[in-house]
Amino acid sequence: MTHRKTPDMLRSARWFAPDDLRSFGHRSRMMQLGYAEEDFRDRPIIGILNTWSELNTCHSHFKERVQDVKRGVSQAGGFPVEMPSLSVDESFTKPTSMLYRNMLAMETEETIRSHPLDGVVLMGGCDKTTPGLVMGALSAGVPMIYLPAGPMLRGNYAGKILGSGSDAWKYWDERRAGNITDAEWLGVQGGIARSAGTCMTMGTASTMTAIADAMGLTLPGASSIPAVDANHQRMSAVCGRRAVEMVWEDLTPDRIVTEAACRNAAIVAMATGCSTNAVVHLIAMARRAGINLTLDDLDQLGRVTPLIANVRPSGKDYLMEDFFYAGGLRALMKQLEDRLDLTALTVTGKTMGENLMGAEVYNDDVIRPLSNPVYHQGSLAVLRGNLCPNGAVMKPAACDPRFHVHQGPALVFDSYPEMKKAIDDEYLDVTPDHVLVLRNAGPLGGPGFPEWGMLPIPKALIKQGHRDMLRISDARMSGTSYGACILHVSPESYIGGPLALLQTGDIVRLDLPSRRLDMLVDEAELVRRRDAWKAPEPHFQRGYGWMFSRHVTQADQGCDFDFLETGFGKSAGEPDI
Ligand code: FES
Ligand code: MG
Repeated sequence: MTHRKTPDMLRSARWFAPDDLRSFGHRSRMMQLGYAEEDFRDRPIIGILNTWSELNTCHSHFKERVQDVKRGVSQAGGFPVEMPSLSVDESFTKPTSMLYRNMLAMETEETIRSHPLDGVVLMGGCDKTTPGLVMGALSAGVPMIYLPAGPMLRGNYAGKILGSGSDAWKYWDERRAGNITDAEWLGVQGGIARSAGTCMTMGTASTMTAIADAMGLTLPGASSIPAVDANHQRMSAVCGRRAVEMVWEDLTPDRIVTEAACRNAAIVAMATGCSTNAVVHLIAMARRAGINLTLDDLDQLGRVTPLIANVRPSGKDYLMEDFFYAGGLRALMKQLEDRLDLTALTVTGKTMGENLMGAEVYNDDVIRPLSNPVYHQGSLAVLRGNLCPNGAVMKPAACDPRFHVHQGPALVFDSYPEMKKAIDDEYLDVTPDHVLVLRNAGPLGGPGFPEWGMLPIPKALIKQGHRDMLRISDARMSGTSYGACILHVSPESYIGGPLALLQTGDIVRLDLPSRRLDMLVDEAELVRRRDAWKAPEPHFQRGYGWMFSRHVTQADQGCDFDFLETGFGKSAGEPDI
């Protein structure tokens, strides 16, 4: 079924083959770089999109790792070119890295389109880089393979294992409660991130690389390999070799990212206890492939998929390094075989079913059998009601079950600084039954949809020993976060969504089994409040933020730019001069 390309059919041949002045220019400039014609002519040119930077802690090994990819490309007869790409990092980007996911997607699409590249290896891993690179490459349409950065080693301090994010929040609460010393706090600071690689809990990075893996966009199981493991180097070289072959096979991403692949990815995400961010990114990625994956589809899969990866924060005990030693994603997918579409084609040129052959679980406490899951269902749940007519997202598996049905008075904050000040007030008038609400924190309000959704528990309650309470926002939360947090309320308050009308003291009711979230305020009163509501001032008057504000879609639509979605208009196609 595969028709092999011949060298004259290479995309790069349009730059280098013709006997005309422009192509003369292209060839002479390659020679300026020190290459002879036979180095690059009639060979697949593989762009290696590298999101390395000196401030991207999770990709610090990419500077060396790219050499392994190049080695693989050359071995297979291709010509590797490293293309530096926007290094959207989670550790330092303010106000939030999510503001720049779409910028990376645009850069990826245009970098590929405008250069003589026949195929690409996408080097990413830190949260937004996976969806950003994949979204852009899907729109560009050349053969692509995703190279996940891999998780960092387990954290360690004083003999205790530390998990990215999750233990930072946990120890921070203990510090606020006065239960640990400054020296211990500094010890945690030095031990929680101690190697290259992405967060090693099942946070957004591990979730999104698992999704890319389950979609068939990585080498089988590549997402589970720790960043500093020699397996990761070997995997990188294979990515290079495989990218060359994919070009000859014309294995384009539209043949891989099908409805079946997106569904497989969603099922796997649910079984891993995925980050809530998966919802936004999965929808956006699927839409770039022209597939209308909805919140309701995800809720449906969440209801029937058991959580079998015992990896924190949804799982209790283990981290990504343990997950790899237990067999990794292939072993997890093997457990789900009956639920997946095994005919889905992957970057290997084989089906998902073929890729999973021989996969085994080596530790069934880390990767559980379906008969003994960590949680029977509900990695993610989608809520609706008069507070969130277009949906909101919750992670039932990561919160105290007593909040699954809960009613209490709202305590509403209009901004992060206002909330921060209040929760540090030891005399704040708050009970464990209160519902903390943060608004103006959505895609437009944040701005950029920051990860503020795990609102800190008020100091007054921390000191009484409380560690969870119901919280609602139109923000996201980190994939490493946990607790009874309702997120992604849509439409967001900043554009007048009903969350904007909620007032402190109103009774809020969550009924998770029936997927409802409502404010118990009568309709006439809501109409009165709506009439009195005034739209806030825009955040941006110029630049990228201005463009973002005009074109970003709401959380339930994936927060892509409207003009980048598939079907928005006729594609720019190939450069014709
Ligand atoms: Fe990069 Fe968590 S900070 S993955
Ligand atoms: Mg994160």
